[in-house]
Amino acid sequence: MTNNLKQSIGIGLMGLGVIGGQVARVLTDKAEILAEQVGCPLVLRKVKVLAQDLAKPQAMEMGPQLFTTDADEFFAEPEIDIVVEAIGGESPALEYLKRALSGGKHVVTANKEVIAKHGAELLALAQQHKVGLRYEASVGGGIPLIAPFQHDLVANKISGIYAIINGTTNYILTRMARDGVDFSSALSRAQELGYAEANPRDDVEGIDAAYKLAILASLAFQNQVRPEDIHCEGISRLSSRDFQYARELGFAIKLLAIAKQDDKSIEVRVHPVFIPEDSLLAKVDGVYNAILVEGDLVGKVLFHGQGAGALPTSSAVIADIVSAAQDIVLGVGSRARWKLEPGKVIKPMSEIETRYYLRLNIADRPGVLAQITKVLGDHQISISSVIQKEADSVAQTAEIVIMTHPAQEKAMQQALEELRHLTVVKEIGNFVRVEA
Ligand code: HSE
Repeated sequence: MTNNLKQSIGIGLMGLGVIGGQVARVLTDKAEILAEQVGCPLVLRKVKVLAQDLAKPQAMEMGPQLFTTDADEFFAEPEIDIVVEAIGGESPALEYLKRALSGGKHVVTANKEVIAKHGAELLALAQQHKVGLRYEASVGGGIPLIAPFQHDLVANKISGIYAIINGTTNYILTRMARDGVDFSSALSRAQELGYAEANPRDDVEGIDAAYKLAILASLAFQNQVRPEDIHCEGISRLSSRDFQYARELGFAIKLLAIAKQDDKSIEVRVHPVFIPEDSLLAKVDGVYNAILVEGDLVGKVLFHGQGAGALPTSSAVIADIVSAAQDIVLGVGSRARWKLEPGKVIKPMSEIETRYYLRLNIADRPGVLAQITKVLGDHQISISSVIQKEADSVAQTAEIVIMTHPAQEKAMQQALEELRHLTVVKEIGNFVRVEA
């Protein structure tokens, strides 16, 4: 039933950082067009900030009466219909989101960590209180992803998601591949550009990508996938030599978030992969994100765009605010859906099957290659190619690169363990999985 009594929709904003500040600006700059979409004006009623934010020029321009540093005062404001959380991190954001939903407020959040870890609980709370919980900005910044999974792709059985969903690491890998810069200088530049998380470990070790994959996989497979279900490896083990060999072999190296499902199990992992250099994802460079989705009806769909930054992220937050406001005007309660019962099992990493790139530093003398191929053969790992380079005549060592046919992860890990103990193997330089 249409809620004809609404003269305006009240917004309560939590956080005036990069995202919150931009959201406040758009609410003012585009007030007219947003009001047309909703049917009445969206009015910022209260902004919860930290004491240091009060001195920001933007806060001064907006007027001190709008601001509070006190969460109790914020939640006591009766004119707030929609709470927009742009604080980030798990605490105190989780507590605030629960408080908002329990108080019957619609909620919009950009918080991937909270949604990935507590999404199921929060959606249940939203349903209980007949309000909406929206989180489009939590994955892929401005790229529409949550709404497509909830609406446009809903008739599909999704078989796979292959995603570049961390701009910082994609920027670092691009710089390493293209300009040969080292890891730390590429990371510093990503931080200067404002792409990295407050703690860059979350980016570099794949944790940020794992939060986002947990959200996407839960939606796509209608099954609860938690961050701890995801096998997660970062990019810090990659060296410039891996990029040289990848190029020579016709591959790019990307940090991919991969989710697949079959009839019984779900496979979820984040790690660096070799992908063919002519594939669509290999061409996604710099801070851009891209998410390839495979559905039984739609086939392959690629979403591409800016996965971070104030403007793209505010695009998603504002869209959620408008959608929530439209629901309020129409008298719609909760539309939250996310199956809460764990259904399928999560496939253990040891059972996944993929091809591998293996770089070894070995003694350069007769019979060494035979010892290595025997270890791989003993574990049913079939070799597709071998290259040897960079023999060091003084140290009498050589570097070899082995590409395998598909093999089981468990077999590969056992083979690696045996190779480590061979005296002719000086070092396992790296091993990287291959998605071809
Ligand atoms: N640190 C994140 C990234 C920001 O690099 O993609 C957006 O979540």
